[in-house]
Amino acid sequence: MLEILVRLMAETWLVTGGSGQVGIALRRLAPAGVTIVAPGRDVLDMAALPDLDVLIARESITAIINCAAYTAVDKAECEPELAHAINAVAPGRLAAAAARAGIPIVHVSTDYVFAADGMGPWAEDGAIAPASVYGASKAAGEAAVRASGARHAVVRTAWVVSADGNNFVKTMLRLGGERDVLNIVADQIGTPTHAGDLATALAMVTARFTSDSDQRSGLWHCANTGETTWHGLAEHVFAEAARHGFKTPAAVNAIPTADYPTPARRPMDSRLDCRRIAQDFGIRLRPWQDAVTEIVATLAAQQQEQIA
Ligand SMILES: NC(=O)c1ccc[n+]([C@@H]2O[C@H](COP(=O)([O-])OP(=O)(O)OC[C@H]3O[C@@H](n4cnc5c(N)ncnc54)[C@H](OP(=O)(O)O)[C@@H]3O)[C@@H](O)[C@H]2O)c1
Repeated sequence: MLEILVRLMAETWLVTGGSGQVGIALRRLAPAGVTIVAPGRDVLDMAALPDLDVLIARESITAIINCAAYTAVDKAECEPELAHAINAVAPGRLAAAAARAGIPIVHVSTDYVFAADGMGPWAEDGAIAPASVYGASKAAGEAAVRASGARHAVVRTAWVVSADGNNFVKTMLRLGGERDVLNIVADQIGTPTHAGDLATALAMVTARFTSDSDQRSGLWHCANTGETTWHGLAEHVFAEAARHGFKTPAAVNAIPTADYPTPARRPMDSRLDCRRIAQDFGIRLRPWQDAVTEIVATLAAQQQEQIA
C-alpha cells in the first residue's frame, strides 16, 4: 500500500458520494490532520445542488473531492438527463463554488470516456470519444471542471472494485454461489482498481493541492497496475474464493462481447497509462491481482464474522 504523506493542520475536505465505493474508502482513510465532511444525498443532492457557498463557508472546507456520480452505465442509456445533471452539471457547480472559495477540487472520472473500438493504454492526452450516455456525461463533467477556473485535478480511474457497495467482484461471488456455469466477457481489456488504493491516491493528490499553491491543475490517470479481461478478473476472484471456502462455479466460460449485448457500449480496450501520476505525485498502485486478493479475503472475513 502507498503511504500517505499527509501532514496537514486543520484541513476539512468535502467528499461527495460518501456512501459509494470510493467515498467509503476515503472516509475510512481519515488522513491525519484532516476532517472529512461527507453529506448524504438528503443534504447534498447532486441532481439539485443546494447553495454550496454557504456549506463551504460554514464547514470551513479547504478542498472538495467529488466521488459522487450516476454510475449505472446501462440504465443511463434511458436516463440521459439525470446522468447529465449528476455527472456533468453538478461537477461544474461544485468546481465553480471551489473557484469562488479559492479551494481546489479533485474530480473522479472514468476510462469510459474513451472510444469503444480504440486501443490503449490511453495517455491523458488521448482523444476521447465516449460510446455511451454515461461516458459522455462524465466527459462533459471533466470539461465543466476544467472550465470552472478552480484549481483542479481530474483523476480518471477504471473498473472500481472493493468489499463495499456494488461491483463486479461481489457480483461474481454472488453468482458463483448460485450457478454452476458462468459466461463472462473475455474480449474487453482493462484494469480493476481497488477503491481503497484509489482513495489513498486521491488523498495524496488533494494534500498536494492544499499544501502547494504552485501545484498546477491537470488530468491524471490512476488505476492498479497490470491488465486483464472481465473473464480474467472472474477467474482470479474464483481462485481466491475457493481458497476461502466460497462455493465457486464448475465452469467459467469465456465469451465475446457480441454474445453479451448490453444497452451501453463499452470500450473494448480501456487500459489507462498511469505514468503521469507516478511522475508528478509518486503514485504507483499495486498489481490488480494483489488488490482483488485482498478484497476477497476481506469479504471472507466478513462472512466468518456473520457466521460466528
Ligand atoms: N465503479 C466503477 O467501476 C468506476 C469506474 C471508473 C470510474 N468510476 C468513477 O469513480 C467515481 C466513484 O465511483 P464509485 O464506484 O464509488 O460509485 P458508486 O459506488 O456507484 O457510488 C456513487 C455515489 O454517488 C452518490 N450519488 C449518486 N447520485 C447522487 C445524487 N443524486 N445525489 C447525491 N449523491 C449521489 C451515491 O449515493 P447513494 O448511495 O445515495 O446512491 C454514491 O455515494 C465516480 O466518479 C465514477 O464515475 C467508477
